[in-house]
Amino acid sequence: MTKLFIKDVDLRGKKVFVRVDYNVPLDEQGNITDDARIRATLPTLNYLLDEDAKIVLASHLGRPGGKVVPGLSVRPIAKRLNRLLDKNVKLAKDCIGPEVESQINNLKTGDVLLLENLRFHSEEEDNDPEFAKALVGSCDVFIQEAFGNCHRSHASMVSINGAVSQAAAGFLLKKEIDYFEKAVNNPLRPLVALVGGAKVVDKIKIIENLVKKVDKLIIGGAMAFPFLNVHGYGVGKSKIDETVIVKVMMINKLAKERGVKIYLPVDFVIADNFDKRAETKVATFQEIPDDWYALDIGPASTKLFSEAMQNAKTIIWNGPMGAFEMDAFSRGTYAMVESVVSAYALTIVGGGDTDLAFHRMGESYKVSFISTGGGAFLELLEGKELPGVATLTDKD
Ligand code: 3PG
Repeated sequence: MTKLFIKDVDLRGKKVFVRVDYNVPLDEQGNITDDARIRATLPTLNYLLDEDAKIVLASHLGRPGGKVVPGLSVRPIAKRLNRLLDKNVKLAKDCIGPEVESQINNLKTGDVLLLENLRFHSEEEDNDPEFAKALVGSCDVFIQEAFGNCHRSHASMVSINGAVSQAAAGFLLKKEIDYFEKAVNNPLRPLVALVGGAKVVDKIKIIENLVKKVDKLIIGGAMAFPFLNVHGYGVGKSKIDETVIVKVMMINKLAKERGVKIYLPVDFVIADNFDKRAETKVATFQEIPDDWYALDIGPASTKLFSEAMQNAKTIIWNGPMGAFEMDAFSRGTYAMVESVVSAYALTIVGGGDTDLAFHRMGESYKVSFISTGGGAFLELLEGKELPGVATLTDKD
């Protein structure tokens, strides 16, 4: 990564504005149900504390739509940070204004102040430069650490770079970009991509980009259906998105030209209903009855896919193999988790629910890297430039 890095900046005694992505899931009582995104920023926060900086943290939470929504206050995050940092993290009532400004000016070395939800102001999503200026106020340095939000051209992601005298990437942002570069743009080969999930229109963009880079492409989930369809096979009652068929044909053509091997499911766990209590059985791809759904890859497919990964030196995975939120259709995805963690390869996982499968199996620690990005990771896979990264400019 060519951007200025946090370690290149003199932080001693400085007021440091850190944009983080603490957009974490909350339950109905407002409790955080997964704090991975908060924990992932601890190296940066601890480094800043070691450097005797004064820390101002800013994040969005949910989609309040430019107005104050009490249920989307960052208060539970301040509480979690208290525990993780073992210090009293202060919570500001807002993210801009004279009161916040004076709180920032009164920070002492080692203090941490968490600003209230940035998206309580519509100017954040409007990428308003004046709002960015007000946000950063008297802070000396801006650290971009919100990888998960880097696909959003918002004020605290983009305009903010014009409002500060020094800007740099934090540890998490650097790690995300470096791993991605290593896996996709400069990989040890064979490079194998495993793509699944249900959002076919989004996933096809990823495959269009990856087919130009990988050696093997394994396709599961609903994404496999149009690929089977162009070979003349139906998938029972499961929906085939017709809008992607032309793209699928182009991908197949490009794969042939580049010598990329495409692996599709050869069997499925099928069900008479889209329901966890449905009757299920295994059928080959040629034998799916018209009134049954294909809801997971079958045992022969998991074997085929696992073997295809065996000689991989790099594996990148996005999207489950089936409707894995229902136990009856989760085996294919879990079998892929086992194959990925047992491969002698650099393994990178991200986007959507894929990380959830690893967490549920207690296998997260065996993956080289699990991205904290959902949409941001997907946009990188699509080959897009992330505005939050592209606009992070060196000031020296
Ligand atoms: C995410 O969770 O993907 C980011 O925090 C961005 O959130 P958004 O999709 O609400 O913009």
